[in-house]
Amino acid sequence: MTMSRRSFTTLAGANGAALLSGGLPVVMQARAATDGFTELTISRKPFKLVPEGKETELWTYNGACPGPEIRVKRNEKVRVRLINGLDEPTMLHWHGIRIENAMDGSPLTQNPVAPGETFDYEFTVPDAGTYWYHPHLGSSRQVEHGLYGPLIVEEDAPLEGVADITLVLDDWLLNEDGTLNQKAFGNIGMAAHGGRLGNWFTVNGQSRPRIKTAAGQRLRLRLINCANARVMYPQLRGAEPVMIAMDGQPLEKPVTLRDETFALGPGGRADLLVRRGNDELTLVHAGRGEPLEVAYLDRTGEAGDPDTTEIEALASNGLVAPAGIESVKPVELVMEGGAMGGLQGAKLRGRDVGMRELVQNGMAWAFNGVAGMTEEPLASYKRGETAVIEFVNKTAWPHAMHLHGHHMLPVEIDGKPQQGLAWRDTLMLDPDQRIKVAFAADNPGKWMLHCHMLEHQETGMMTWVDVEA
Ligand code: C2O
Ligand code: CU
Repeated sequence: MTMSRRSFTTLAGANGAALLSGGLPVVMQARAATDGFTELTISRKPFKLVPEGKETELWTYNGACPGPEIRVKRNEKVRVRLINGLDEPTMLHWHGIRIENAMDGSPLTQNPVAPGETFDYEFTVPDAGTYWYHPHLGSSRQVEHGLYGPLIVEEDAPLEGVADITLVLDDWLLNEDGTLNQKAFGNIGMAAHGGRLGNWFTVNGQSRPRIKTAAGQRLRLRLINCANARVMYPQLRGAEPVMIAMDGQPLEKPVTLRDETFALGPGGRADLLVRRGNDELTLVHAGRGEPLEVAYLDRTGEAGDPDTTEIEALASNGLVAPAGIESVKPVELVMEGGAMGGLQGAKLRGRDVGMRELVQNGMAWAFNGVAGMTEEPLASYKRGETAVIEFVNKTAWPHAMHLHGHHMLPVEIDGKPQQGLAWRDTLMLDPDQRIKVAFAADNPGKWMLHCHMLEHQETGMMTWVDVEA
């Protein structure tokens, strides 16, 4: 199985001028039932991901891919009833939300929701921003089958004169006929490399959608990377967008992007603000190799006067650097393994095993010499304690480290102190990079810490931290 750039562009090229696969290229909005709970019912549904290809069966929330957008105001309650129409267990995780632990939807906090069963999630959202939801069981298969959707938390004072547009990015691994590649699920070789990288790109479930917007409005583009493993390099041609938030959290100083792109790892989000204007906009994935056009934004109507007013920072959610970072001895998290990683062996369920046996048990990666979930947490914190973790990527691959229930402030990269970097819940590390992060461990409970490349997570890159009640 080769996941070359060639197959990526061949399939993409075959699409030519993409036809819409039906419906509007915008994310459907969720509606609440009479008891105040929004129902998310999982069902199987045939979809045409490749307009000229065959239909393929996706797994959907309410028949839609992406699942319906859940939109609330900051500090409001989210009430969602998950109804599992699959024939395998599932659960729902609210990615990036500083949530109460029991509602986190991870195997550390709840039992699987069996086929035919339901689970009610009810929680408040302390931070405005762009978030998303996805299963946290059999994630590699379930997310790749289309189970994900946006969770948008509006600011207390929403931006005025701004069209709010959610762009859910995914890349799928498809067969030549357009059906989902089933053979690659569980492929340990793929997991030991970059994970399940796709060959077909969609935005809001469609190939190269055209999204209509008004020239007289600024645009707030909420980019969400829902891919299993693909690091995306978004670039907006036709404008100089201003990045105003990363992983939901406002940037202290918005950053104007001219030609540059940025890495958006799996699970990560970026909010871009675009000034009013008539220019046609093209969203590009500018990874290595040929840049790929993935969506178009058509702007119609009058743009009005030139839009020159400064783009201000969003109101902060109140996250502040915790006290005494320098005096805390960092907890090291050494990431090892994978192809070309030279890993000799690791601990597996309490036993030292060699590489061959690791692989036979479906493992390819390790954190601090341990493959897969540990009984003991990586670290235990008193409530409110300053946590400092140093990620050390000793592998030949990039990774997207995701912490549940908290956001992390990068304070040091490769030994160099950093100031004013964005808070992250999903932090990209390049090969050989080390990044020190700090945060106040102020949310009690058991919180997963793992690579968000779902195949890496499933084959070893998983641990957790404990915050005392
Ligand atoms: Cu978005 Cu532990 O996951
Ligand atoms: Cu990884």
